[in-house]
Amino acid sequence: MEKIRFILFNLAYTHRGKGTPLVLLHGFPLDSSIWNEVASLLEDSFELIIPDLRGFGESSTMEYPTTMDDYASDIADMLDYFRIQKAAIAGHSMGGYVALAFARLYPERVSGLALVSSQVLADPPDPKEGRYKSAADVAEKGIGGVVETMTPKFTSDPRLQAVAREIMEKQQPAAYIGALKAMAERLDFTSLLSSFFFPIVIIHGDADALIPVERAREIKAAVPNSYYVELKGVGHVPMLEAAKETAEALKHLS
Ligand code: MLT
Repeated sequence: MEKIRFILFNLAYTHRGKGTPLVLLHGFPLDSSIWNEVASLLEDSFELIIPDLRGFGESSTMEYPTTMDDYASDIADMLDYFRIQKAAIAGHSMGGYVALAFARLYPERVSGLALVSSQVLADPPDPKEGRYKSAADVAEKGIGGVVETMTPKFTSDPRLQAVAREIMEKQQPAAYIGALKAMAERLDFTSLLSSFFFPIVIIHGDADALIPVERAREIKAAVPNSYYVELKGVGHVPMLEAAKETAEALKHLS
């Protein structure tokens, strides 16, 4: 992957295709490779920019606190680097939280927004505390516990569980810790939805064991003119489980 050298770290990215600029953001604790199949299906319609969020994949590890706004400002810096003023932003799960943070900070730079297996709600107190416990557990014992817990929740397909596990196992403990704390402290973005004057695409599997499909239905109800795709029998990783349908839905951002 290519890298942009920022002052604090290097941001790794893939840049391919021609058309409307579209940023694809991965979820936790994954990296940009989850988008590979979807990217092949989109590169004739979009100029794709697919980063590894700070700490993940081939981007440098960050050893100090990170917020959703930090991830979002990295995306703004990345777009500046490519001299792209406005782009569509699609985020998977935690990547969706980053996309929402980006849209809050830089609404004028968003041509469209896609939330893939994501949500607009903040963490309630118990799950928030759980994130801090997981972060402490990773700091003390490593990433194994989180990998074990999350693997079966991504998808019921054993082959794709192995794919997700392999990606999760490659990530650094510092990336887990930074992202867990950033997720715990993220804002509730519900009230932001009514201020979005660009196309919104929502893609969610009805068998998602990590973020229930009700969260996506609530967004659809709040933004009736959004483009909504509910994938039957699909879990938390539609880009792996239903790449074609995911790519087709994302084309609504062109
Ligand atoms: C993700 O897949 O990015 C995370 O599971 C999202 C979350 O835990 O809220």
